[in-house]
Amino acid sequence: MNGLVYEHLHHNLRLLKLSTFESILDNYLELAAKEGRSTIEILDYLIDQELQSKDARSQALRTRIAGFPVEKRLEDFKFDYQPSLDQAVIKEIASLRFIHNAENVVFLGPPGVGKTHLAIGLGFKAIRAGFKVQFANASAIVEKLETADKENQLEERLRKLSRFHLLIIDEMGYLPFSDSGAHCFFQLISKRYEKAATILTSNKSFGEWGDIFKDNVIASATLDRILHHCTTVNIRGDSYRLKERRRYGLVQPGSSESIQSETQNAKVLSRSEDFSLP
Ligand SMILES: Nc1ncnc2c1ncn2[C@@H]1O[C@H](COP(=O)(O)OP(=O)(O)OP(=O)(O)O)[C@@H](O)[C@H]1O
Ligand SMILES: [Mg+2]
Repeated sequence: MNGLVYEHLHHNLRLLKLSTFESILDNYLELAAKEGRSTIEILDYLIDQELQSKDARSQALRTRIAGFPVEKRLEDFKFDYQPSLDQAVIKEIASLRFIHNAENVVFLGPPGVGKTHLAIGLGFKAIRAGFKVQFANASAIVEKLETADKENQLEERLRKLSRFHLLIIDEMGYLPFSDSGAHCFFQLISKRYEKAATILTSNKSFGEWGDIFKDNVIASATLDRILHHCTTVNIRGDSYRLKERRRYGLVQPGSSESIQSETQNAKVLSRSEDFSLP
């Protein structure tokens, strides 16, 4: 090959940031010559490799940005353990149509039933499908919004968050919001309403969301927006954590810990029957 043309080609590939194309070019051309591949096959292969590595880099970056606390896959979720869960509904959600349609998904249920697992699993799937995703703990995101509000940066912060096609807000209800926090949360939901998808998880039924906001009017207005285009998945079942602890013999049947956990579950279960708005 003409040395000047060779240098020129590499230079241009670097300028175009086609790094994979450039790095495999020499070896591949040698192999392709031996195997008698046509020019069109060579170009097709090199461009395809470039696209694949670009996609992998983009996925890795979007996964880092998403900030998942742990890695969970939908494929690892054992549906046999949660018979209350309608697999067809999860399958429909996993089609990710809700993200295309800027709709919401809410997972409700007592501790340990897999709400966060399913939310993260969907988040990973969305990233693999090319979406920008952000995972956030409800209290933490509200705290950040309150700080931004104090610094007159709330609009800017909400604008940044609205760039995510999917926002996952985990653990609604473990801690109540302050007055200004409730207000910030309402604004977050308003900003995303009919524009971008949100997944929420909560151990509290919708009827109890007034307690989270400590204000029934804001709770009601927020829920109204969330539920307008929403799939609610109510998981009624036993904690998977408890099952694991039982399996390793850490909880004896009939022990006080076992009884306490079951009682807590039972309480939340009966509350989660109530879907009325506050
Ligand atoms: N059906 C399931 N199949 C496989 N693993 C599960 C299942 N349900 C829960 N788990 C696992 O059990 C643990 C607890 O689940 P997860 O954190 O999703 O519960 P949660 O409903 O979010 O509870 P909490 O309200 O306490 O946050 C996780 O490690 C999760 O991967
Ligand atoms: Mg959770």
